[in-house]
Amino acid sequence: MAEKYRICITLLSLLVVCVCLMKATVEARLTQIVQRTRFNGPITFLAVGDWGRKGAFNQSAVALKMGEIGAKLGIDFVVSTGDNFYKHGLTGVNDSAFTESFTKIYTARSLQRPWYAILGNHDYHGNTEAQLNPALKRRDRRWNCHRSYIVRAGFLDIFFIDTTPFVTKYFAKVNKFNWKGILPRNRYLSNLIRDFKTSLRTSKATWKIVVGHHPVRSIGARGDTSELLQLLLPILQANKVPIYINGHDHCLEHINNTGVPIEFLTSGGGSRAWSNVSHRERLKNNLKFYYDGQGFISVQLTRRAANIVFYDVYGKPLHTINLKK
Ligand SMILES: *[C@@H]1O[C@H](CO)[C@@H](O)[C@H](O)[C@H]1NC(C)=O
Ligand SMILES: *[C@@H]1O[C@H](CO)[C@@H](O)[C@H](O)[C@H]1NC(C)=O
Ligand SMILES: *[C@@H]1O[C@H](CO)[C@@H](O)[C@H](O)[C@H]1NC(C)=O
Ligand SMILES: *[C@@H]1O[C@H](CO)[C@@H](O)[C@H](O)[C@H]1NC(C)=O
Repeated sequence: MAEKYRICITLLSLLVVCVCLMKATVEARLTQIVQRTRFNGPITFLAVGDWGRKGAFNQSAVALKMGEIGAKLGIDFVVSTGDNFYKHGLTGVNDSAFTESFTKIYTARSLQRPWYAILGNHDYHGNTEAQLNPALKRRDRRWNCHRSYIVRAGFLDIFFIDTTPFVTKYFAKVNKFNWKGILPRNRYLSNLIRDFKTSLRTSKATWKIVVGHHPVRSIGARGDTSELLQLLLPILQANKVPIYINGHDHCLEHINNTGVPIEFLTSGGGSRAWSNVSHRERLKNNLKFYYDGQGFISVQLTRRAANIVFYDVYGKPLHTINLKK
């Protein structure tokens, strides 16, 4: 009896070792980009969303102030929360909208840094693969866009996640969205969720920030994204992600204290805003700041602290968040 018991234990331990080894070899399959940062210096970036309108709807005015604030802070890079090119993404790698909505708009010297972009739902109306194509980097070397990826910047890891394929209602609109590279959807999502979980779990960065186009929480015109509440929020929570940044709602917003220790930031004020629609009653105890207008945010990180500022179209600071590690 004792012998059998011992064999059982041995087999069990072997199994545990095997499973552990297997887990260790499952690597994160998300694309990784290394962003250089100053030695031990602060890491600073701007985040803007929902912008590409050839300068219209105050896009140029926001760009101008991004340039000024960017210079003042000495930013390392810029994050785009998606909906890069209205109204239907790019038609191809040579679409002039790329120059007219990006290169010729964000001209300030301080903005000549890498841009890290993701796709929004409007980008999915067009040729999504064009936005992901390295040919765009030859047109403007700042441009970095992938579906889901990691930017490793010193003590900061930013996880960009492609949220459009999460949204069920988009799949009912046949022909409107370009799902090339996404179908079958269930497989795309389960692979993405698996890789995202692994990357977050194995990240050794002091700060982990997640960026998606769609909000998890928002009181703006579009509101919460139920699929993200269900599928993404538990992962953010399990991995103690302190900050989630999104666009989609054309506003600036800070929601907090929703039962999870996550600051939900919306930076979707890159151009057309003033929807005049909000759902304040929904999260009225959690809403720290809401601005139904154009603007952008800055994020400055040290190993110990985060300082986040929301600016309007005049570059005026409207709201500040200070976090400690
Ligand atoms: C541009 O910004 C100003 C200041 O916020 C605002 O009054 C104006 O309505 C904006 N224009 C558009 C087209 O949104
Ligand atoms: C884009 O333009 C370049 C340079 O003119 C050309 O070589 C390339 O074939 C074009 N690509 C497409 C998809 O039209
Ligand atoms: C988040 O919410 C909690 C509770 O309301 C508050 O104590 C804390 O200061 C908030 N954090 C920020 C950064 O606003
Ligand atoms: C919001 O209200 C302003 C002022 O009444 C108006 O100019 C603007 O067109 C409205 N925006 C939308 C999206 O209806």
